[in-house]
Amino acid sequence: MTAVISVFSKCELPLKLSSTSEARIGSLYIKKYFRSPPRLAYDYSMPVQIGQTAATFADPIGLLKDCHRRIERFLETLLRIADTKQGAPLGGDERAALEGALNYFRDAAPRHTEDEEDSLFPRLMEHAAAGDPVALAMIAELEDGHEQANAAHEEIDRLGRRWLAQGSLTAPEAARIAGLLRELRTFYERHIATEDNELFPLAGRMLDAQELAAVGSEMRARRRLQDELLPRSAA
Ligand SMILES: [Fe+2]
Ligand SMILES: [Fe+2]
Repeated sequence: MTAVISVFSKCELPLKLSSTSEARIGSLYIKKYFRSPPRLAYDYSMPVQIGQTAATFADPIGLLKDCHRRIERFLETLLRIADTKQGAPLGGDERAALEGALNYFRDAAPRHTEDEEDSLFPRLMEHAAAGDPVALAMIAELEDGHEQANAAHEEIDRLGRRWLAQGSLTAPEAARIAGLLRELRTFYERHIATEDNELFPLAGRMLDAQELAAVGSEMRARRRLQDELLPRSAA
């Protein structure tokens, strides 16, 4: 029996994990759907952390950083599966982890790109246009990076779904998905470092409280969250 667990976080919604055995999410055991405890050489459920996101929509920059940590962890999950299994048939926990990570990058991660490209970047560019060409160039490079990453994610998704549907990948397909994931890891290391260490501090200096609140408000609207799911501080 395959159970589907919806995991709600403030940053990306909805995220669904499918599992054929007990799934552990952070310290929370979902025993309603499963009977026996997992026997995992590696705990693939670790990327999902319920209730561990410190930031709220009142702190949009903090939320964006939280999303970066999720991107890193889900990418690491994909890499670990690709490197250890090399296209071979997957166990139940591995299938669930692969599907969960693919779903994250297909359904949730794009909201993060929209947060940056539609809410944060335009406001920063407005300020930078007044005399900060270095900032403008940095933002343009980050946008270009998003496009390149999207292309890689699309191919990874196709190969990953084929792996799930057919049960295995050919040797060339396995090498291709592993290679794409390694390239993405290299890309994200630089891209995320630029955003965390240069862009976000710049946003803190350039944007006033009203502008930051507007970014947070747009991020919240983008996810169409019900008010009752939001922490009071985010309202
Ligand atoms: Fe980005
Ligand atoms: Fe980002």
